[in-house]
Amino acid sequence: MAAACYVSGRITFLSCFVFFFFFFFLISSFCFFAHATDTLTQGQSITDGQTLVSAGNIFELRFFSPGNSSHGRYVGIVYHSSISATQTVVWVANREAPITGSGGRLKVTSDGDLVVLDGAGGSVWSTNSSAAPSNSSTTLQLLDTGNLVLQDGGGGTLWQSFDHPTHTFLPGMKVSLNTTTGKALLFTSWKSPDDPSAGNYTLGLDPNGSAQIFIWDRGVPRWRSGQWNGHRFIGTVMRSLYIYGFDYETDESQGIAYYTYTPHNASLVRFVMEWDGMERTFMQVQETRQWEIVWGQPINQCEVYGKCGVYGTCSDDGTTTTTCSCLQGFEPRSSAEWSDGNWTGGCARKTPLHCQLNSSSNEDGFFTLPGVKLPDHSDWASTIGSESGCREACSSNCSCRAYAYAASDIGCLLWGHDLIDIYRFEFPQDGYDLHVKLAASDLDAASNKTKSRVIVAVGCALGLLLAIIICYLLWWKYGSRAKVSWKKKRQQENTVLHPSGEVVSEFSSIYGEETQEGKASEPLFTFDCIATATGYFSDSNKLGEGGFGHVYKGTLPGGQEVAVKRLSRSSGQGLEEFKNEVILIAKLQHRNLVKLLGCCIQGEEKILIYEYLPNKSLDAIIFDTSKKELLDWKKRFNIIEGIARGLLYLHRDSRLRIVHRDLKASNVLLDENMNPKISDFGMARIFGADENQGNTNRVVGTFGYMSPEYAMEGLFSVRSDVYSFGILVLEIMTGRRNSSFHRMENAVNIVGYAWQLWNEDRAVELIDPTIRSASTISQALRCVHMALLCVQDRANDRPDIDAVIRMMGSGSGPLPMPKQPMFVAVGSADVTETKIANKYESFSTYDVTITMVQGR
Ligand SMILES: *[C@@H]1O[C@H](CO)[C@@H](O)[C@H](O)[C@H]1NC(C)=O
Ligand SMILES: *[C@@H]1O[C@H](CO)[C@@H](O)[C@H](O)[C@H]1NC(C)=O
Ligand SMILES: *[C@@H]1O[C@H](CO)[C@@H](O)[C@H](O)[C@H]1NC(C)=O
Ligand SMILES: *[C@@H]1O[C@H](CO)[C@@H](O)[C@H](O)[C@H]1NC(C)=O
Ligand SMILES: *[C@@H]1O[C@H](CO)[C@@H](O)[C@H](O)[C@H]1NC(C)=O
Ligand SMILES: *[C@@H]1O[C@H](CO)[C@@H](O)[C@H](O)[C@H]1NC(C)=O
Repeated sequence: MAAACYVSGRITFLSCFVFFFFFFFLISSFCFFAHATDTLTQGQSITDGQTLVSAGNIFELRFFSPGNSSHGRYVGIVYHSSISATQTVVWVANREAPITGSGGRLKVTSDGDLVVLDGAGGSVWSTNSSAAPSNSSTTLQLLDTGNLVLQDGGGGTLWQSFDHPTHTFLPGMKVSLNTTTGKALLFTSWKSPDDPSAGNYTLGLDPNGSAQIFIWDRGVPRWRSGQWNGHRFIGTVMRSLYIYGFDYETDESQGIAYYTYTPHNASLVRFVMEWDGMERTFMQVQETRQWEIVWGQPINQCEVYGKCGVYGTCSDDGTTTTTCSCLQGFEPRSSAEWSDGNWTGGCARKTPLHCQLNSSSNEDGFFTLPGVKLPDHSDWASTIGSESGCREACSSNCSCRAYAYAASDIGCLLWGHDLIDIYRFEFPQDGYDLHVKLAASDLDAASNKTKSRVIVAVGCALGLLLAIIICYLLWWKYGSRAKVSWKKKRQQENTVLHPSGEVVSEFSSIYGEETQEGKASEPLFTFDCIATATGYFSDSNKLGEGGFGHVYKGTLPGGQEVAVKRLSRSSGQGLEEFKNEVILIAKLQHRNLVKLLGCCIQGEEKILIYEYLPNKSLDAIIFDTSKKELLDWKKRFNIIEGIARGLLYLHRDSRLRIVHRDLKASNVLLDENMNPKISDFGMARIFGADENQGNTNRVVGTFGYMSPEYAMEGLFSVRSDVYSFGILVLEIMTGRRNSSFHRMENAVNIVGYAWQLWNEDRAVELIDPTIRSASTISQALRCVHMALLCVQDRANDRPDIDAVIRMMGSGSGPLPMPKQPMFVAVGSADVTETKIANKYESFSTYDVTITMVQGR
């Protein structure tokens, strides 16, 4: 080619130059279009028909016409065709100024602005970011998040589309409020499905700083999210999609408060302020590249802001009829309007409050409205930490109209304005109790109707109580003596069967001397002593049995109750080693560990003596439908936390760094206050396999609680305990045994089942109905999320117990996304996965402790 240049005539140089230039242009433009770029540099532009595509082929910046409109051409960000089968616009530049014809151009100007030019080269839209010096190399880039960013040469952001949203909120954006100016970042609806220009509806944060999200119709509130309780908006129906993803934060340095959203799984989500005033949430269905509406607000007329006026409540019975009613003690301001179905006038108090009449007598009371979306205009009394304090704060301030209290959650809310926008949820547990201040006479009216019934009921109850007391007294006088003599007789029988008088005295001498000599720290018991204490290991004293042997209840001569574990005889360890281990482990003390008091060795017999806990083990309560109600959410959370703290002590804080290896519900005992205590820790050491990390040829544990690497390869570490802990948490949350999920809904076990529901955004269903309630659900779901992180297949993906405890603390921020466990892959075509799953399935002996010796 160069040779050709020299050979040709006089105009060669010019033609050569033109040729080169053209060639270069062709090549570069070819490259440009073959691999659509995500970047434009200063001076570059795209025309109608050309596009910028984000690196991961998710978003595309291009010219488009909305719907079948003849409105003209707009520049906007849409989902790439590999993501969305239909044109789905998430941002529009020139929403108010469409271009007629296809001569439009989008350009990064030489002075670092992004402009949209019409066919004649006139600017119809500009970012106005002319702060950039003209010589800096400004670039425009479309990111995979959907953010279009204009950067100066130094990497500083001059402008980004996330700060200038149109009608779509994407994960990564902020719904923000400038706390100094009170200016909210607004998302504005389109005028119609075909017209991107600004419509009637805007969405943003309440400028009054209540941290509620509002939808306004031409500036008038149309819907509000309800107060933020630290986890979710209390005015929205519970769905984990919402409970999880949002987070409220304040940024002092920028002077903003904002919400962010983190998607709860890999599916793409977008929130759209739609032209008809609905906020709709769409989720991508990967297979079809279609969008599914997963949520929308307001869903019914009751959710329309102030539908029933002040002091009115709205209830929606699921049909099309909406009915407003005045709160107890209030009546319609205008009964004519009210009966016409115009409720906006609201209600007025029937009787003025006493405090308003300057009466000193404190005769106002509170009427409780259960389970509502709390009204607007609340004040948060951040210093009040009790229900009675909150009530007192409201009753002592005449301008206070109502209060609501929930300890760890919304705290104490007070209302100093008229109560507006109260929605009575279909399920009261979705809402909060509102206590409305009323004059005493209006309160009486409320109770008059039921008064007579109450009297009858109280009368009955008193009668019954009296009867019970009389019966008890009679029994105490005549019956108890018989009982005592019967007890005595039984004791004598025992003595006859086992002539233990001698033994007891022998024991007391040994034990007594030892204590006197201060040797009690060496926790060795004689066999005879233990035999006597347990009634010669009688079946009536048997508490249970596990993989390591039988457990009996015993009473030491001093009256102390103990649990005695008689180990099966198959320990490969020498006596001295055994004794040393027990002595070491007996020194571990933590309030969430069962105290090991000592041991007893005689011949082949090896016995461990523990403190006795009256409430037995967790599995005896949590899986028992008649008893599980004893464990409300607060107790369950306390149990989960206690187990985690016990594990932390074993893993990190104790001198021995013990891996439990057999954590399960039956190894968690409960004391009289339902505090959990881990038992059976250190069994691996006691049994003589005391590597802290590594490979063991003895797999000790319980299938269903065993981590994959431990069950299959004998590899264990503290992370295998975390796995068992995760299973245990899932069992506590569901109130069901791991094994009971065996053949459910294609799920092999609790992990598969939990994952499936969580992934389908139905995690709420996992939670035991007896503990499901609005005020706790977010914390409960957080526990499920944490548990799913603990049961991830790869040990390295799991958090350590330290991190688990931090996750359970409130305000620890969003949790990472758990990886899908392989169990779910049962039935998939993938051979290896299926094989693994089958291997698990063949272990039908869930929850049976086994000791398996692998040939190695
Ligand atoms: C840029 O400035 C012009 C004139 O001041 C204004 O009309 C236009 O709305 C501004 N554009 C943007 C995107 O703010
Ligand atoms: C741009 O110009 C200013 C002064 O006009 C100079 O200080 C700066 O270094 C220049 N920047 C670049 C990237 O050339
Ligand atoms: C927006 O408000 C105007 C009145 O200002 C009304 O005519 C129009 O129907 C409203 N549009 C929608 C979509 O509600
Ligand atoms: C409803 O009542 C309010 C006054 O309480 C009035 O301003 C409004 O116009 C009425 N609306 C209708 C549709 O009659
Ligand atoms: C009484 O309540 C109002 C409204 O909540 C509040 O503005 C005012 O400061 C309160 N007064 C006292 C003395 O607490
Ligand atoms: C994400 O969760 C939704 C339910 O909220 C479910 O429909 C969807 O299939 C899930 N996506 C993936 C990729 O698993």
